[in-house]
Amino acid sequence: MKKISKICCIGAGYVGGPTMSVIANQCPHIQVTVVDINEARIAQWNTEDLNQLPIYEPGLKEIIAESRGKNLFFSTEVDQAIAEAQMIFISVNTPTKTYGKGKGQAADLKFVELCARNIAKVAKEDKIVVEKSTLPVRTAEAIKNILDNTGNGVRFEILSNPEFLAEGTAIEDLLHADRVLIGGDDTPTGKAAKNALSEVYENWLPKERILQTNVWSSELSKLVANAFLAQRVSSINSISALCEKTDANIAEISRAIGFDSRIGPKFLNASVGFGGSCFQKDILNLVYIARSFGLPEVADYWEQVILMNDYQKRRFADLMIQTLYNTVSGKKIVLYGWAFKKDTNDTRESAAIYIADALMDEQAQLVVYDPKVPKERIYADLDYLGTRDPQKNRDLLTVATDPLEATRDAHAVAVVTEWDEFKGYDWKKIYEHMLKPAFVFDGRRLLDTHTMRDIGFNYYKIGEA
Ligand code: UDX
Ligand code: ADP
Repeated sequence: MKKISKICCIGAGYVGGPTMSVIANQCPHIQVTVVDINEARIAQWNTEDLNQLPIYEPGLKEIIAESRGKNLFFSTEVDQAIAEAQMIFISVNTPTKTYGKGKGQAADLKFVELCARNIAKVAKEDKIVVEKSTLPVRTAEAIKNILDNTGNGVRFEILSNPEFLAEGTAIEDLLHADRVLIGGDDTPTGKAAKNALSEVYENWLPKERILQTNVWSSELSKLVANAFLAQRVSSINSISALCEKTDANIAEISRAIGFDSRIGPKFLNASVGFGGSCFQKDILNLVYIARSFGLPEVADYWEQVILMNDYQKRRFADLMIQTLYNTVSGKKIVLYGWAFKKDTNDTRESAAIYIADALMDEQAQLVVYDPKVPKERIYADLDYLGTRDPQKNRDLLTVATDPLEATRDAHAVAVVTEWDEFKGYDWKKIYEHMLKPAFVFDGRRLLDTHTMRDIGFNYYKIGEA
């Protein structure tokens, strides 16, 4: 296998953009070209003003400033980049299917398939194709089939290299990865391809953290890792409901069980429910795969993680409605946060969307403030649910740019994303702005109970009576 000097990545999204930026930055001897069919997105990646990059990740703009134009390029010339590269990453979106067989559960592979067909059409020499999007098991095989049957007779080695980066810490996670998984065939050429990709990562990661496996293990590990993480969140959230009925405090429980070194302290924060592009999608996939292999008990087991998450979102909205005297109709309620977690502008599967939707069903008058999410995104998220007329979404919800002003004459404020800045707000001033009694529903356990109650708020915190 030749040394890798040119890499192409198809898909300039949340995965492709940061991952390739870090690879280019750490491997100055490799030319990395990120391509996308979305011209506007590529233009954004090429923007002069680094605050206008299409995604926000701490540390990303510094890396782009260093590498872009040297050995990191963003382009719409998909075919050319494929033709020139020895290694091609596929990082296109794999949304949950919204139609046909597997609707609502299976991943839609049409974008991946289109990429594979495109690679087959363009490639004139041997290539290593790396699947990088979150994909269901067997995707590598599907890609291989397409490439082997439609290509120009050149050899393709297909590798699975799942992404474990978390949004908001993507650059950190890439630079200091716990592990890198490389799945591929155990044939001599398969092994050579795995080694070639391993060498790319070895430019900045210790070799012992780069694990080589077969394709099935690599693909399934990705789903299982996310399922385990999501399961922890659902587990702690289930207990938060119990805490609200008793004198137990969820923070004390998380701390107590987290001290058990076998359990560990991470991912035990009770919340309004997990969101993000991966957890739900990956579990649904796992459920779908288990079911298709005739394992309904396994499927049901993992599906419960999602059902518990749905329950948590619904429960939070219901608590607000009940507490506000069983009616929120016409009441102004401010939502602090729309992103699925802090330090990202990503809103995919954000709990905020479902909480807002439930409150709007009850005719609440919502005002949303999020430091990073633009107005258009918020409306697009609600319109996508299709619960009501798009105009009605705009009538029932407005988007604020001034978080303090937004609270004037509000009945309640709900914290749905854990942005640090919310902690520093002048909550006394917010209290003065609001109608009395003034309610705060803290879905992220962000604020201090005593301080909030001393100010005069009726303050509710998830996981506490
Ligand atoms: C996740 C995985 O962490 C990452 O490895 C994978 O590659 C992609 O999916 P991400 O979706 O970016 O990353 O976010 P993560 O930090 O894992 O949080 C997911 C959701 O769980 C968020 O909505 C977060 O608020 C919620 N969460 C997390 C909790 O509610 N409580 C916790 O204790 C931890
Ligand atoms: P992810 O979170 O998996 O990175 P995103 O939706 O953020 O997903 O990004 C995926 C990107 O892949 C989008 O910008 C989309 O335009 C791009 N894409 C999808 N299909 C193709 C294709 N056939 N060729 C090039 N780019 C594609």
